[in-house]
Amino acid sequence: MTSSNRVEPFAAVDIIRAKRDKKTLTEPQINWTIDAYTRGVIADEQMAALAMAILLNGMEAREIIQWTTAMINSGERMDFSDLTQPTVDKHSTGGVGDKITLPLAPLVAACGAAVPQLSGRGLGHTGGTLDKMESIKGWRADLTNEEMHEILKHVGAVICAAGPGLAPADKKLYALRDVTGTVEAIPLIASSIMSKKIAEGAGGLVLDVKTGNGAFMSDPNMARELARTMVNLGNDAGVKTTALITAMDVPLGLAVGNALEVQESIEVLQGGGPSDVRELTITLAREMLELAEIDVDPAEKLDNGQAFDVWKAMVAAQGGDNDAPLPTAKFEHTVAAADSGTITSMNALAVGIAAWRLGAGRARKEDQVSLGAGIMLHKKPGEKVEAGEPLLTMYTDEEARFELAQQALDESPVTIGSENEINRLPLIIDRIV
Ligand code: URA
Repeated sequence: MTSSNRVEPFAAVDIIRAKRDKKTLTEPQINWTIDAYTRGVIADEQMAALAMAILLNGMEAREIIQWTTAMINSGERMDFSDLTQPTVDKHSTGGVGDKITLPLAPLVAACGAAVPQLSGRGLGHTGGTLDKMESIKGWRADLTNEEMHEILKHVGAVICAAGPGLAPADKKLYALRDVTGTVEAIPLIASSIMSKKIAEGAGGLVLDVKTGNGAFMSDPNMARELARTMVNLGNDAGVKTTALITAMDVPLGLAVGNALEVQESIEVLQGGGPSDVRELTITLAREMLELAEIDVDPAEKLDNGQAFDVWKAMVAAQGGDNDAPLPTAKFEHTVAAADSGTITSMNALAVGIAAWRLGAGRARKEDQVSLGAGIMLHKKPGEKVEAGEPLLTMYTDEEARFELAQQALDESPVTIGSENEINRLPLIIDRIV
């Protein structure tokens, strides 16, 4: 019995033992576990033990569905049924230089869908969409549900922070997994991501599951399994869901860091930008438009300026000043190529860690990010370089950070050789429907 004299139907230790012994949890057991953990009846150390048992012994498809449903039911569900446009959303598992949400949301809105993009902040070597958007003077991440609806109705796209009411069980569990070595369990990752996305209430969802050294799932087969699990969860819950498996062995685009990535996104929205960022933006837009049953060519909307018009309207609707200059860092340092030849590899993780050490990311949730810090790449794998030519430029507000960033780059240096040694994943690796 708890202090409120409520009789609990299960004991946490029995549920931990069941998963430890590779048994399948029942629906009532799962519903109680999520509810009791949210209420504080299951202690953190008990949930940590259960998460580890799930990591080691897995879950059946039915258990994952029930676990996800219970997490959705721990909070509110959003409702966009008052909108006239079909709603469609995208989620990326995150990577270095992954700024795709920025051009993608206004682009898909310019094609006629409504895009409610609830996003997060960065932790570790991958950046967060909200941190990037906050490089824009005056831009606000926190919106009320009413403001979000208004912007979707009039502009078509909104990028904002998820409120505390969305899947609160996941917020608590994710923080616990982060400090107990239990993040990397496919049932827990899939249910964590999909509980938030299903609660968000869009009609369609495209998942961009990254693989390669800079991704959370470096093994492509694990990425496929995660994508398959999430696609099944979405479709089972009535959200039309597809996934692309995409490359994260090399940073995406040339810019890594908050304001630098906003600038690159604006270039894509103006019809330019690096070819991989443009290609992935258009490919994901096509996937989203197919789910929304809209037959419009997104490439045209980038080239004719309509996507950029939606971007400017979206930024202004959230208090952002489209004319204000983006923040820049105080110091810069350019690294030159040691040899001549073709760039054969560039480790995304090393570049991500270096950008993070320059101040672009945070080590703890409470840390401030430096908006101008980061890295601009001058060359990517497949391109030729002469010895002494610039390879990349580092930006920071604290000069002492250059050395730490350089150490990260030196641990997995850019390799230069001959063309037939190029070692790089294709940008789009697989499609899971
Ligand atoms: N992102 C999430 O939201 N949850 C996870 O478990 C992993 C990544």
